[in-house]
Amino acid sequence: MDKIRFGMIGAGAISNAHIPAILKHPDAEIVCLADVNEEAAKAQAEKLEVPRICASYDTLMEMDDVDAVIVGIPTQFHADAVIKAARAGKHAMCEKPMARTLEDCRAMIQAHDDAGTTLAMGFVRRYDQHWGQIRKLIHEGKAGRPCMWRVIVAGSAPQPPNYGTWYADERFSDGTLTESASHDVDFLRYTFGEVETVTAHMQKLGTYGTVLDNCVVIFGFESGDTALLHWSWSLPKGAGSGFRGLDVIGPEGSIHEPRQIDDQWIAEVSRADEVVEQIPFENRRDATTWSQGQLDGFIRAIRGEALPRATGYDGYKAQEIYLAAVQSMESGLRIRLPLE
Ligand SMILES: NC(=O)c1ccc[n+]([C@@H]2O[C@H](COP(=O)([O-])OP(=O)(O)OC[C@H]3O[C@@H](n4cnc5c(N)ncnc54)[C@H](O)[C@@H]3O)[C@@H](O)[C@H]2O)c1
Repeated sequence: MDKIRFGMIGAGAISNAHIPAILKHPDAEIVCLADVNEEAAKAQAEKLEVPRICASYDTLMEMDDVDAVIVGIPTQFHADAVIKAARAGKHAMCEKPMARTLEDCRAMIQAHDDAGTTLAMGFVRRYDQHWGQIRKLIHEGKAGRPCMWRVIVAGSAPQPPNYGTWYADERFSDGTLTESASHDVDFLRYTFGEVETVTAHMQKLGTYGTVLDNCVVIFGFESGDTALLHWSWSLPKGAGSGFRGLDVIGPEGSIHEPRQIDDQWIAEVSRADEVVEQIPFENRRDATTWSQGQLDGFIRAIRGEALPRATGYDGYKAQEIYLAAVQSMESGLRIRLPLE
């Protein structure tokens, strides 16, 4: 079968996951890397042995030897690149978050529906064994249902030298809930089903950047499950850098975030304070594992073998949840979905 020939849009941090995945995949080939910063594109192309670069994704769209693109640039530009890809007859995988407005998300989905091309979303946790194990235990009823999911993550905004400044700049980004926590938002939908209500408290707390950098969101699911999500880029005092905590509590017990003991990954289930089960599992936690699975899913979707695990609709729903959180923050009310 012919290889799928890829163009990567964006030579930043996430290209370090996507390009090696393409290079490793037997049915994929990297053809070109596009970045407005030509120096960045050149350096990354040299490091990862990408044969061609260009400074504009418009140029990439004109290349007949590119079948599919991966869009890994600041969120503000996702819609334009994804829609242009469809119009050029190219399949697209869009990094999260999909776009900033529901109008843009709808236009991206429509453009690919009209062109008959595949649109996949980069919600990579759907391919990650660590997260997959938590989801499996929930679905096996280890905690019972309905249950309460709690997650707390405190760290800092993605920023130089590893990332661009745009993450914390409101002209390009909506901040913590979309740029970091959209992974959780999507994973919650993937695990518990559709969200019925959203209640949120969001703030701009830190001195870095201009976006909402601290969010507390409560989700009510149609399934009757509940989730509490606190993700902060701005709790420098009193919060361990990178502190995170996760558990799932239900009528049958609690599932704790998996941890590594020596070389073995373990997920624990407890009842009250007593650990009743220790479940070992394989967890190769490196970006290549999940990026590889995600790329493989995209290729299979392009070939019509299966839907991608995360579709444009999933991107739309995650952004809808963010916009509901904004409505809740502004009104002080619990917001019911769908918004439109
Ligand atoms: N799935 C994940 O875990 C994950 C991790 C990191 C980033 N991301 C997502 O990937 C995307 C890119 O993030 P990043 O961390 O690589 O950003 P980055 O700041 O490291 O790099 C962004 C790159 O895009 C280039 N760029 C900016 N505007 C452009 C344009 N109009 N056309 C072409 N190139 C342009 C910049 O020059 C820069 O090289 C974002 O959507 C981000 O949310 C996802």
